[in-house]
Amino acid sequence: MTNAQPIKVAVHGAAGRVGREVLRAIDMAPNMSLVAAIDRIPQNDLEPLPVSVPYYTDARIGYTAAKADVVVDFSIAAASFPMVSLALEAGTRPVIGTTGFTEEQIAYIDAKCQEHNLGGLLAPNFTIGAVLLGTLAAMAAPYFEYVDIYEEHHEMKVDAPSGTAIGIAKSIAEAHPEAFEHNSPTREPIAGTRGGIYNGMSIHSSRMPGRMAHHQVTFGGPGQTLTLRHDTNNRECYMPGVLLAVRKVMDLQGLTVGLDKLMGL
Ligand SMILES: NC(=O)c1ccc[n+]([C@@H]2O[C@H](COP(=O)([O-])OP(=O)(O)OC[C@H]3O[C@@H](n4cnc5c(N)ncnc54)[C@H](O)[C@@H]3O)[C@@H](O)[C@H]2O)c1
Repeated sequence: MTNAQPIKVAVHGAAGRVGREVLRAIDMAPNMSLVAAIDRIPQNDLEPLPVSVPYYTDARIGYTAAKADVVVDFSIAAASFPMVSLALEAGTRPVIGTTGFTEEQIAYIDAKCQEHNLGGLLAPNFTIGAVLLGTLAAMAAPYFEYVDIYEEHHEMKVDAPSGTAIGIAKSIAEAHPEAFEHNSPTREPIAGTRGGIYNGMSIHSSRMPGRMAHHQVTFGGPGQTLTLRHDTNNRECYMPGVLLAVRKVMDLQGLTVGLDKLMGL
């Protein structure tokens, strides 16, 4: 499908940290028109949004009024899941960044997209560089017998290791199914210093202020190491992936899971 007309985009979870960044990015994107901001926060309690856009607290009313081609969602799974049905019923394709869906919910969203003959995209990570890091690490994996993964995040992160680090470890394991060599210390005066172990890979997590999200993969072989690293510094990092998804979802059928599928990786 060619899009001579601008793609009309709504944002769900628009008052949130990522949602506000999406509002800015869509507002500035060529061939896109920002038509609705949707969030549960009542208008009177709302910190001013970064751009001027019609605001709705009722998603159904928002979709009916805005007639959006695409909705970008960064909210919470409990809100995002029912929102998808409302969007598709209104002819609006979901681009979902919200995390925390079950496999059953993902299958249901796919079935809903098929039922309405529309595309959808769900991406646990919209950072193009982090997606590439997983692919590049998988390319290198067959050529090495040792690998460590390091991930560093801000001190507020509740889980460790990060979902992205687990995704990278799984990509590497697919490309190198037999366990990597792993040095296990015979003396360990301080426990846990070799990190968590996944298929012979050591995974190390660091948490402190001053950071956002950083992932590094280092492979080791005789006489050489190979280091691949990705750093993010602010939430703009998601926007190239979000804009790519908004453009590509117009031509999809059913639910696509993962930004890598849109990048031809
Ligand atoms: N896929 C990715 O690359 C990626 C990147 C960053 C964050 N995320 C995910 O995006 C989501 C949002 O992250 P955030 O940091 O912006 O969170 P946030 O808490 O800042 O924003 C969430 C927004 O959703 C709104 N919301 C909650 N319930 C709602 C409802 N019932 N109806 C409408 N709006 C509702 C909240 O009012 C809030 O404005 C999280 O699930 C996070 O894990 C994904």
